[in-house]
Amino acid sequence: MTNPQRKMLVTSALPYANGPIHLGHLVEYIQTDIWVRFQKMRGHECHYVCADDAHGTPIMLRAEADGVSPQELIDRMYQEHSRDFADFLVGFDNFYTTHSEENRQLSELVYQRLNQAGHISRRTIKQFYDPERGMYLPDRFVKGTCPNCKSDDQYGDNCEVCGATYSPTELIDPKSVVSGATPVEKDSEQLFFKVDDFRDFLQEWLDRGGTQPEIANKQRELFEHELFEWDISRNAPYWGFAIPGEPEKYFYVWLDAPIGYLASFKNLCEQKGLDFDAFLAPESTAELYHFIGKDIARFHTLFWPAELKGAGFRTPTAVWCHGFLTVNGQKMSKSRGTFIMAETYRKHLNAEYLRYYYAAKLDNSIDDIDLSLDDFQARVNSDLVGKLVNIASRCAGFISKNFDGRLGDALPDPQMYEDFVSALQGIADDYENRQYSKAVREIMALADQANQYIDAAKPWVLIKDDSQKHQVQGICTLGLNLFRLLVISLKPVLPLTTEKVESFFGIDPLCWEDAESPLLDHPINRFKPLLTRIEDLQIESMIEDTKELMETASKSGPLAEDPISPEISYDEFAKLDLRVARIAKAEQVEGADKLLRLTLDLDGETRNVFAGVKSAYRPEQLEGRLTVMVANLAPRKMRFGVSEGMVLAAGPGGKDIFVLNPDDGAKPGMRVK
Ligand code: 2FM
Ligand code: ZN
Repeated sequence: MTNPQRKMLVTSALPYANGPIHLGHLVEYIQTDIWVRFQKMRGHECHYVCADDAHGTPIMLRAEADGVSPQELIDRMYQEHSRDFADFLVGFDNFYTTHSEENRQLSELVYQRLNQAGHISRRTIKQFYDPERGMYLPDRFVKGTCPNCKSDDQYGDNCEVCGATYSPTELIDPKSVVSGATPVEKDSEQLFFKVDDFRDFLQEWLDRGGTQPEIANKQRELFEHELFEWDISRNAPYWGFAIPGEPEKYFYVWLDAPIGYLASFKNLCEQKGLDFDAFLAPESTAELYHFIGKDIARFHTLFWPAELKGAGFRTPTAVWCHGFLTVNGQKMSKSRGTFIMAETYRKHLNAEYLRYYYAAKLDNSIDDIDLSLDDFQARVNSDLVGKLVNIASRCAGFISKNFDGRLGDALPDPQMYEDFVSALQGIADDYENRQYSKAVREIMALADQANQYIDAAKPWVLIKDDSQKHQVQGICTLGLNLFRLLVISLKPVLPLTTEKVESFFGIDPLCWEDAESPLLDHPINRFKPLLTRIEDLQIESMIEDTKELMETASKSGPLAEDPISPEISYDEFAKLDLRVARIAKAEQVEGADKLLRLTLDLDGETRNVFAGVKSAYRPEQLEGRLTVMVANLAPRKMRFGVSEGMVLAAGPGGKDIFVLNPDDGAKPGMRVK
């Protein structure tokens, strides 16, 4: 039944080390994990590797905003990601990081080989530069007005309103997302990978089915229209690997990220004594598969195969793309509570339910899949609890109570068992072809048949009649053997439940071949409930928790949207004269929406200050309280009068503005240090 043993290396896209894993990410990890578990069950040598994608500008800026070093940030994310993947039973053989020595060496090697073979060019290009922050800006770090439809606040690469694509320099009134400064265009020399040198190879790779046809067509269109080179270098400051021999230049994160697949595998080879070079040699008979989202197809189906080819490695057998996740038919949304983190889901629900539901939805297309929460609940309850587990719970008790916990030595209907075994062959093909939804449909149709068999045989009636009682052992033995076949076929999806079933039967880990012979004349253990129903409350609480988490994140994480301003020197800081002031009087300002007029007493000197705290305080709440003010700010003429200083307050705005309030014995006029 099993094919000759194959050797495979399988990867999922590397998650960025600047944010948590959410249910959208999990589509891919679950899809890949099911495929890998299936291959392993078939007896193939299959290695599944991944890593955190730890480099790039967003990670550098995120660390800065969090007040930690990039290393600290990526270490923390690594722990969180590892935990989430383990929780969802994603069984990587190695989960590593792109910020590793193996990856540095391999990235340098790939670059050097490409360079020596003449596939690297250099030329000077114009890029936006943030003069305040002193850095070149990636497209996504410039915002402005769309040159096409004139919508405000659009990113430098495309407009989310009209869909136009453009270069950041075309934006109207561009601003740096990092500092708010107006970026300037600056020339700098960059290194390019001449992807175009690989035109024939790529054409052939796409033609031989290296990816899905829709994806292949799109890539072909791309290189029919342009002769392209890919910019693989970035200027300092950058968080990544320095390019050897190129001062102040770093590899662009997308250069070392896919090489991170190889680095993670190399690290695994070192742990397990596997032959890395043989696996990656151009003539290798091993297979190499990458599972990715359709949004990063270009990197994986053009740049990556070309890089591998140019650097003398074997190229991918295939790159399989999947679509995006929607929840309840819409984009995941923070306000609707459907932007659900892996960790939040796990607080309320069993990971295998999601694995099952995704399997029931996934096929080998690039269509988006929808997690409809009502359907999720109904489907898990009816398929897993109502159909699958029900078979075992209906049969196990009779065997334990009446037949000394022993399965019978023959099946009353061997043909039925054989029919299930043949159906499993079709199901294996479905897994192989990533047609999981078809596999699940077929498995559930078999579960229906098994339940119908038990319904018709009525062991609960026969057991009461001494002359027929002996038949019950056979019926339940068949029932439990059909259940065992269904569990074999679902093992790639439900590995933990399968383990429980293995200990119920008292057997070794199931592999696909075990389907061929039934379990007869064999002692079984007491049956314990395997899975419970999903209750409404579990889903409701998960949504509530998600909403709350999003709210706290937007309050406690303002740095993400409002990054820290450019550094100031100590001397600049020391120029601020911060004083304790008593709010002698607080008054409404006619015509002002946000401002209150405060009369501040600095012990002998009074100041008139307009403060934007009207939404948070009524005037009488402030009178008599102490606060902290900048006392040496130049007076500013405002619409309502002159403001002679600034009151210090914190908070996101609206009702949440907190005027600084020095308690412990401060006196008006005191200097704040
Ligand atoms: O799009 C992403 O999330 C990237 N971090 C994926 C990288 S996959 C690979 F190329 F490393
Ligand atoms: Zn537009």
